Amino acid sequence: MASPNLTSSLRETRVFPPPAEFAARAHVQNFAQYQALYQQSVSEPDRFWAGVARELHWFHAPEQGLDWDQAASRVRWFADGTLNMSDNCIDRHVAGGRGEHTALVWEGEPGEVRALSFRELLLEVGRCSSMLRALGVAKGDRVAIYMGTTPEVAIAMLACTRIGAVHSVVFGGFAPQAIADRILDADCRVVLTQDGTYRRGTEIPLKRSVDEALRQCPSVRSVVVFRRTGSPVAMEPGRDLWWHEQMAGAEPLCPPEPLGAEDPLFILYTSGTTGKPKGLVHTNGGYAVQTYLTTRLVFDLHPDDIFWCTADVGWITGHSYVLYGALQNGVTTLLYEGAPNCPDPGRFWQLIDRHRVTAFYTAPTAIRAFMQWGPGYPRAARLDSLRVLGTVGEPINPEAWMWYHSEIGRGRCPVADTWWQTETGAHMLAPLPGAIPTKPGSATLPFPGIVPAIVTKAGEPVPAGHGGLLVIRKPWPSIARTIWGDHARYVQTYWAEVPGSYFSGDGARQDDDGYFWLMGRVDDVINVSGHRLGTMEIESALVAHPRVAEAAAVGKTHQLKGQAISVFVTLEAGARPSPELREELRSWVAREIGSLARPDDVRFVQALPKTRSGKIMRRLLRELAEHGEIKGDTTTLEDFAGLAKMREGDEA
Ligand code: WTA
Repeated sequence: MASPNLTSSLRETRVFPPPAEFAARAHVQNFAQYQALYQQSVSEPDRFWAGVARELHWFHAPEQGLDWDQAASRVRWFADGTLNMSDNCIDRHVAGGRGEHTALVWEGEPGEVRALSFRELLLEVGRCSSMLRALGVAKGDRVAIYMGTTPEVAIAMLACTRIGAVHSVVFGGFAPQAIADRILDADCRVVLTQDGTYRRGTEIPLKRSVDEALRQCPSVRSVVVFRRTGSPVAMEPGRDLWWHEQMAGAEPLCPPEPLGAEDPLFILYTSGTTGKPKGLVHTNGGYAVQTYLTTRLVFDLHPDDIFWCTADVGWITGHSYVLYGALQNGVTTLLYEGAPNCPDPGRFWQLIDRHRVTAFYTAPTAIRAFMQWGPGYPRAARLDSLRVLGTVGEPINPEAWMWYHSEIGRGRCPVADTWWQTETGAHMLAPLPGAIPTKPGSATLPFPGIVPAIVTKAGEPVPAGHGGLLVIRKPWPSIARTIWGDHARYVQTYWAEVPGSYFSGDGARQDDDGYFWLMGRVDDVINVSGHRLGTMEIESALVAHPRVAEAAAVGKTHQLKGQAISVFVTLEAGARPSPELREELRSWVAREIGSLARPDDVRFVQALPKTRSGKIMRRLLRELAEHGEIKGDTTTLEDFAGLAKMREGDEA
């Protein structure tokens, strides 16, 4: 692990108490209530979470709470209970008399709008479940989903959960190689996709990427294609089927399968510090309970709320909040297919006005883009339906927080900065907006039931004001249980760095009020626009290019994206650096992984600085990428070999 820069310089003193009218109708109405709730949740966690679990529907209610085998890093919650996610997202509300309430509103980028009530969603999900069964999908089978933002992607995910199939959603921006890797890793036999999707006015041909990926995946036997754009696609006889044809004949009545709380719900891949993405496995019970409660309390949801989380369903935020958290709470969730600046940068604000969105959840990178586009766009909208705002994905700079608060929230809406991860499944640090005063740039305090700490590598707590590693002391219900097919890596990554605690990979500090301030990753993960990318993944892609000998990727500060990717490469003998090769390598990485991984700059060097043990000295490269020089060092920048010699042992 690289040595983290744990000197914190940010000092923000503004404090925003919850607005009085907001607090008056909130689920948690003041700080004392939060403290009492928190105290109870950590002193009697089983009782606290059992109380939350009882708000959901179980076929067999659990007696058990946490079951933690520390030696094996095995976590189970509610293990004797059985339930079903789609049942809790849909049937429970229909049975409760809210069948006619709108579950889902979708707006396509070209402007079409579709709405589905809970009753309609029930029929669609039932049909899709029957269709999957007819294709031979059984409980425990993995199904890959590579779709755009459509009601059908939600239907597909819910249908998997209904029959106990494990979905593996692959973000629509990933390239064929990345799709193939994920399909192969989880051994998916069925793929759900669509012809294409619209993004900033152009069509992204999703089916074509699937076709290319599947050349490497001979065990995939069925591909179901939802027709979104109507563009012609190649259909392979015997393998490819049209969604509308399969759904037309499918039985809409398909009772939800009672599933064990610890049966797998889905796999979602994320980047780590090696070249191979990790398939995090989430299970039914704990994930349902914690996504339900966090959505309810952090966005303070009430039955008539209209919730819009702008994340793509292909990321954990899309899973936990666009879909499962919102629907379990029985509120309307909005899905928008396209780009925030199509046809112009006012699109999001028009969407909020048109659909009367009350809770809005987006990412700092988007907020910074809106700031750059200027206040005219939000000011042209009413935005009067909004009650609460949220942010996630990376540390939010106080300036962006303030802009969000004043330009979008009009000074009226609390802003919830939510810290969590693919691995945590749900919010870990976040304000309860009626109860916890906010400070711009801070994710504030732990959610009930969560026991975070800031420690040294040895696990010793660090004093307030000092940076350290953010760990969680005890398992919480929605923690990922393992890495698909590789429990040893799970143990190594999350439970071995700081013995006895869950290691997040993030640095943070706490202020004198106990508020948490996130400081970014301390490992070799780069956060580009809130998307995690492992440096090793990018490096592996680069060295696969015939002219590249070695490569090192590092993150550098970027005004809009948070971080941008800088790569240093050495070339094979005979290859010459050139502007064309530089462009070729940038496109190469985009083609191998996806355009979100396209490096901002590519630098050709004679050698990479290394320790005696052969480890690349990333700290030097980071300084070079960030400042254009290595501070305090007089060695010529090009002379990496000499530099490495001088610094031998520095980071062994
Ligand atoms: C970063 C996204 C600061 C962090 C839900 C974390 C944040 C990684 C915040 C997880 C936040 C996410 N403040 N940093 N509010 N939210 N991060 O798995 O580095 O895509 O470890 O999950 O994003 O990214 P992931």
